[in-house]
Amino acid sequence: MAPVLEIKSLVKHFLFVTDGVILRKYKMLKAVDGVSFSVDKGACFGIAGESGSGKTTISRLILLLEKITSGKILYEGKDISKLARKDILWYRMRVQTIFQDAASSLNPRMRVRDIVSEPLEVQLGKTLTKKEIMERTEEMIRLVGLPTDKLANYPHELSGGQKQRVAIAKAVILHPALVILDEPVSALDVSIRAQILNLLSDIQAQQDLTYLIIAHDLAMLQHVTTDIGVMYLGKIVETGKTENVFNEPLHPYTKALFAAVPWPVPGRVKKAPSLKGEIGNPLDPPSGCRFHQRCEYAKRICREAEPLLVETRPGHSVACHKINEPLWRAS
Ligand SMILES: Nc1ncnc2c1ncn2[C@@H]1O[C@H](COP(=O)(O)OP(=O)(O)OP(=O)(O)O)[C@@H](O)[C@H]1O
Ligand code: SF4
Ligand SMILES: [Mg+2]
Repeated sequence: MAPVLEIKSLVKHFLFVTDGVILRKYKMLKAVDGVSFSVDKGACFGIAGESGSGKTTISRLILLLEKITSGKILYEGKDISKLARKDILWYRMRVQTIFQDAASSLNPRMRVRDIVSEPLEVQLGKTLTKKEIMERTEEMIRLVGLPTDKLANYPHELSGGQKQRVAIAKAVILHPALVILDEPVSALDVSIRAQILNLLSDIQAQQDLTYLIIAHDLAMLQHVTTDIGVMYLGKIVETGKTENVFNEPLHPYTKALFAAVPWPVPGRVKKAPSLKGEIGNPLDPPSGCRFHQRCEYAKRICREAEPLLVETRPGHSVACHKINEPLWRAS
């Protein structure tokens, strides 16, 4: 069976204009620069990485909110950049999202009932009766653990957690196959994050969903994901089964990233070197390995040749000369 989502050599460059003294200068900002991964049905694939590494840009490309520069995104084997008009509507029903600050994205002038039912009205309003739409809306509000009387409320009458539940109800009302969650709990009070994550996990099982989840919170990613990709400056530097990557991170960046957070669970690499300096500039990324300016193991080969993502062991791939280059010790 084909994976739900396949990302193949995905590139997104943004044209960046800088004001020169006489002439404007144009440069390409390499937000996503050759990313490949796939997400199987029922998986929860996490994307980790520092701010500016390109995580949200990948989600915007999947959601057809940005145009791909090159590479491919396949959904159930179909190239999404080649979908016919009617298939785009189908795709938009199958792939939904919950944005980072979902609560503030709820229209303050609409009642919860209208917010949750809106996708259904827009996509299937001509084929469903008002009664069917209302029944489905009530079913969704119950699914996210809210009483149906909340349907009459406006967003400002709800707590942060309740607003997030409404955003989840809206995202799943069309019975999507894939849901993209960009920092789904980071805007919430710490005390209710676990509740919302549990809810997302229950809904995933009940509705047979596949998740792509983007987050900075590594402990959360370790807890909820089945597979993970670690991004650095537009590239995936390490990917694999969550268990493998967390139990034995191989890439120096992953090790440093994991070491940099207070770790409430076993498996942390305590003795990894800490992360020095800032993530590089995607307008002018470092040559060779993009991490080389911050890597304590960097050698000449790291500055000169870009390391490829290689399956180092089953279900665990790494892009690092130190790990994959047989001549590393001699170089
Ligand atoms: N529309 C755009 N035009 C120009 N540059 C953009 C655009 N969108 C994103 N970028 C740039 O692309 C790079 C990657 O951004 P992106 O938002 O994907 O990162 P991120 O990993 O999601 O970061 P964060 O963790 O802060 O959300 C950044 O340098 C950002 O400034
Ligand atoms: S390729 Fe070189 S610079 Fe890059 S992470 Fe590996 S050892 Fe460090
Ligand atoms: Mg982002």
